[in-house]
Amino acid sequence: MSTQNENIELNILDKISHALVHQRNASSLLREVLDILQHEMGFEHGAFTLRRGNILVIEASTGLNEDEKKRGQYKMGEGVNGKVASTGKAVIIPDISKDSSFLGKTKAKRAAKTAYVCVPIKHSGEVIGTLGIDHPAASDEKLQKVLGLLKILSNILADAVATFKQEIEEKEQLRNENERLRQELGVQFHPSNIIGNCSGMKAVYAMIAQVADSPATVLIRGESGTGKELVARAIHYASPRKGGPFIAVNCAALPENLIESELFGHEKGSFTGAHQQRKGRFEIANGGTLFLDEIGDISQAVQVRLLRVLQERVFERVGGHELVESNARIIAATSRDLEQAIQENKFREDLYYRLNVFPIILPALRERKSDIILLADHFLDKYNRTYNKNVRRISTPAINMMMAYHWPGNVRELENSLERAVLVTTNDVVNAYDLPPSLQTAQESGTSIITEEGASFETMVASFEKELIVDALKNNRWNVAAAARALNTTQRIMHYKIEKLNIEIQK
Ligand SMILES: Nc1ncnc2c1ncn2[C@@H]1O[C@H](COP(=O)(O)OP(=O)(O)O)[C@@H](O)[C@H]1O
Ligand SMILES: [Mg+2]
Repeated sequence: MSTQNENIELNILDKISHALVHQRNASSLLREVLDILQHEMGFEHGAFTLRRGNILVIEASTGLNEDEKKRGQYKMGEGVNGKVASTGKAVIIPDISKDSSFLGKTKAKRAAKTAYVCVPIKHSGEVIGTLGIDHPAASDEKLQKVLGLLKILSNILADAVATFKQEIEEKEQLRNENERLRQELGVQFHPSNIIGNCSGMKAVYAMIAQVADSPATVLIRGESGTGKELVARAIHYASPRKGGPFIAVNCAALPENLIESELFGHEKGSFTGAHQQRKGRFEIANGGTLFLDEIGDISQAVQVRLLRVLQERVFERVGGHELVESNARIIAATSRDLEQAIQENKFREDLYYRLNVFPIILPALRERKSDIILLADHFLDKYNRTYNKNVRRISTPAINMMMAYHWPGNVRELENSLERAVLVTTNDVVNAYDLPPSLQTAQESGTSIITEEGASFETMVASFEKELIVDALKNNRWNVAAAARALNTTQRIMHYKIEKLNIEIQK
């Protein structure tokens, strides 16, 4: 009997010494060791745990599936492995069913009478892990022998286990570092065609970076003209689907009777005028992004169909029975108060929750006045190029007017205002009077410069006058006579205005 045992031990040591020579990778070495032990000794489960901070984690095992492995985590001092690690002393449990310290956390199935043997693995005087194996119930003498063998193995393998532990820790550190870099990148991510540096827009850029990689549904909210479509495109082009199509559907622009066929397509002959089978936008957007703009405007019937597609990813063409699949990523946008619409039973709550997975809210332009000049300069450039003009700058009074206005039409209105100004200006400056009338009337704009500062119509006129005169003076090297001629007025009136309007003549 004892010679047979010795043979087994020698056999194991022989095989493990081979493994030590040919296995270059610590993790495969530990797994091979467990396989050898299992094969030679005929037990069911065995595992190496490694100490990570104050917990022991199963890192290599045999006979355990992934779930069982994951469950095998012990605090220092907890269960058999925890005790072995915290005391540094080996343990034999002759019958695990009779021992309360054996927790069986992996929930792996075991034979009725099983013993458990566990030894600490020490490196540089510290416990860095444990090696524990089940063993068919046996005599004390036999179990002592097994323990002796495991102790030898733990000494032989200590170096390899230490290396493995270090590898895991380095990988983890690398992962953390990557995560940190990604986060930082997210904060720095700024789609080149979206202008704005205010904190609200920075938060939007970070959210775009965060969600772009995933297939998650995004709901973009904000008043009309705040850049919702721009953001939808930015998400698409920052996503892995950027090579696929970006299909935009304006749900509010489509007549009720056409929207279903537009979204889902139709079969030939499904309604009058359906002469051919036609693919819907869901099908066309396959592999790419489907942008559903003005989603708050769709009818109840379309809401029901949409909900089904979002849930099941399949739909039927209008008048058809064949199921069509679409993996299009959905980005929806609305300027409507969906919560209010739900209250009024105009928008389905279940659809709302499907869409509202990742909301991005765009600030109104009046809430990000610090970006007005940036945006205005951007559009000045854009329309200079479009109309082949060379308008150099925006005058201070024009900027003041833009800053004072409440911009109900948001960035779109600002863009239109600058396009118009570039077209109407007669010098190379955007002057206050080149801006649309809506910006010039206090009553209409509500919070314009006039009501805000208690100014009057005279002050407004005076400020335009001053601007006109300063421009003329600058263009004529501050020569009053030349400026008067340019403005088709007299020198006397010029001097009078210069004094009255407090204009400083620069030499
Ligand atoms: N932050 C921004 N930077 C540059 N252009 C913008 C920005 N926001 C909006 N725009 C421009 O304003 C117009 C309206 O934007 P859009 O995305 O259609 O708004 P919405 O969909 O919210 O109504 C577009 O021409 C767009 O290019
Ligand atoms: Mg829009």
